[in-house]
Amino acid sequence: MCGIVAYLGKKAAQPILVEGLKRLEYRGYDSAGVALMGSGNIRIRKTSGRIDALEGILCEPDVTETFGIGHTRWATHGEPNTVNAHPHLDYTGKIAVVHNGIVENYGTLKTWLQNEGVEFVSETDTEVITNLIGFFYLNCRDDEQQSPPNGQNKFEWAVQRALRELYGTFGLAIICSDFPNMLIGAKKGSPLILGLGENEYILASDAAAIVEHTTQAIYLADDEMVTVGPDGFHTKTIGNITVSKDLQQIEFSLEQIELGGFEHHMLKEIFEQPRSLKTCMGGRIDGRNHRIKLGGIASYLRDLTRTRRLILTACGTAFHAGLVGEFLFEQLARIPAETEYASEFRYRNPIIEDRTVVVAISQSGETLDTLAAVEEAKERGARVLGIVNVVGSSIARATDAGIYLHAGPEIGVASTKAFTAQVAVLTMLAIELGRRKHISSEQADRHIDELSQIPDKIDTILTQSDQIKEIAAANVDKNNWLFLGRGFNYPVALEGALKLKEISYIHAEGLPAAEMKHGPIALIADGMPAVFIATSGPQYDKIMGNIAEVRARGGRIIVVATEGDENIAQHADHLIMIPDAPEFLQPMLAVVPLQLLAYHAAVLRGHDVDKPRNLAKSVTVE
Ligand code: M6R
Repeated sequence: MCGIVAYLGKKAAQPILVEGLKRLEYRGYDSAGVALMGSGNIRIRKTSGRIDALEGILCEPDVTETFGIGHTRWATHGEPNTVNAHPHLDYTGKIAVVHNGIVENYGTLKTWLQNEGVEFVSETDTEVITNLIGFFYLNCRDDEQQSPPNGQNKFEWAVQRALRELYGTFGLAIICSDFPNMLIGAKKGSPLILGLGENEYILASDAAAIVEHTTQAIYLADDEMVTVGPDGFHTKTIGNITVSKDLQQIEFSLEQIELGGFEHHMLKEIFEQPRSLKTCMGGRIDGRNHRIKLGGIASYLRDLTRTRRLILTACGTAFHAGLVGEFLFEQLARIPAETEYASEFRYRNPIIEDRTVVVAISQSGETLDTLAAVEEAKERGARVLGIVNVVGSSIARATDAGIYLHAGPEIGVASTKAFTAQVAVLTMLAIELGRRKHISSEQADRHIDELSQIPDKIDTILTQSDQIKEIAAANVDKNNWLFLGRGFNYPVALEGALKLKEISYIHAEGLPAAEMKHGPIALIADGMPAVFIATSGPQYDKIMGNIAEVRARGGRIIVVATEGDENIAQHADHLIMIPDAPEFLQPMLAVVPLQLLAYHAAVLRGHDVDKPRNLAKSVTVE
């Protein structure tokens, strides 16, 4: 949830840390701070608020330190004020820490340290880590129980000793004033990457803070740490066993994470969808041979065709993509499928029978609930596959195999292009499984052709952005909205409601349209916006009936309909037309106007679209 960055090199560290924090700000933005290593002392500047506020207090001229750590916070333990902001300095004044994650046993450790006479100043769990390291550092005695093994320095030893006491998750950058050229990073459950530049190192929770400086990086695994010093870097386990890491190439460019002329990342990412889908599907659809090649799971396809039950598990927008997947697998491949909230799956004592395959879906690959569901499914003997955007992320590594989205970095907190790419991957997989099971090659060919046309069709929807803005403007004063769809478009209704809620703070409910008459219809009052997805397909007449029911009760009808539907205009107050497509492909089209509607509504309400209140991009807490 939080973003951490550290710099050790030859340049002035402060501007690099601030720039890195700006790139990580989407991970959390309620307070921020930096610690700079001076000669023999650590200087901390921190504040509540965003990175802009931090910049406001970093006004000293001639800041020349070339080593420091920084943090942007999404508060868990303790309100977002200056005292609780990171970095935290330990009670000895020697150790400073920035942390992403949660220490679950912080209460016990805090009491223990307090009984040892250690004083705390903040309400955070992180200060427990800081003071624990400080405690072991201070009490590192020259005996066999409490001293570093031969050759290990006291700082590194104290860090390892402290980390072994923690339950929970951490991505950490740690510095010690007695070691003015030594940076330690450690990871468990929260991502941590070390970028290797020329005579410089950048440690960060996300490649976005690194890519400006270098594309060479190592990705730490859980229970690993890295010590960077004058003689280079060493990786080992927290248990002090040396591990060698492969150098990896950061796959995206700076351009991909910049605004590129758009006002917000969310709008940029909505408009990127034709391109991101082409990239996602490009190497996988072999148009000439009408084949779908899913390299990442090639050796599992046989298992998948024999699977008895597919469980798709995810959170938020990825969960909605999973719901579309459920329809796709059942209709195209005739495989029983169900979608579970990852947060619920883990705790419901799930039944995993022989030949059950679990598919975890996640943009970030770091969502803790989804990661925990993956671990739970593995423990129960399921084959677990991942559909993930961020290469090398925790979920990508925890699953047996998987398919990357290749949608490019998604920075906007509201997920958009990841959703369409997730649905595209699920569609490719369902078509391929269908072709192997029961649909004819001709039919599979037709499906592949139609799928390949989706990016261009999205392009035509995007040209209606201004018209959709007018619809948003006409309804933005309404505080309660409904989103209604049936079949494949029911998950789209859920997604439309989620988008509106999270960035415009308008209350919205997504429902299967037919469910409305079982209760929610009571909400309909004069002028309440009801967004219907009434596209062509077997349920068209049914949804027209649902439109009539809402209209009769004074609701304001906004309809997403199929081009060429001449009947629809008379039933709608506002109309958005999308190109025709087979029903199973409509979610990728129908969601786009709803993304734009939410975006424009939020901007019209004056909200910071890319940093909605209380939210963060990757939810790495339970
Ligand atoms: O990174 P993930 O796809 O695992 O994230 C899951 C949800 O946290 C995410 O989709 C969230 O709901 C978004 N803010 C929705 O726009």
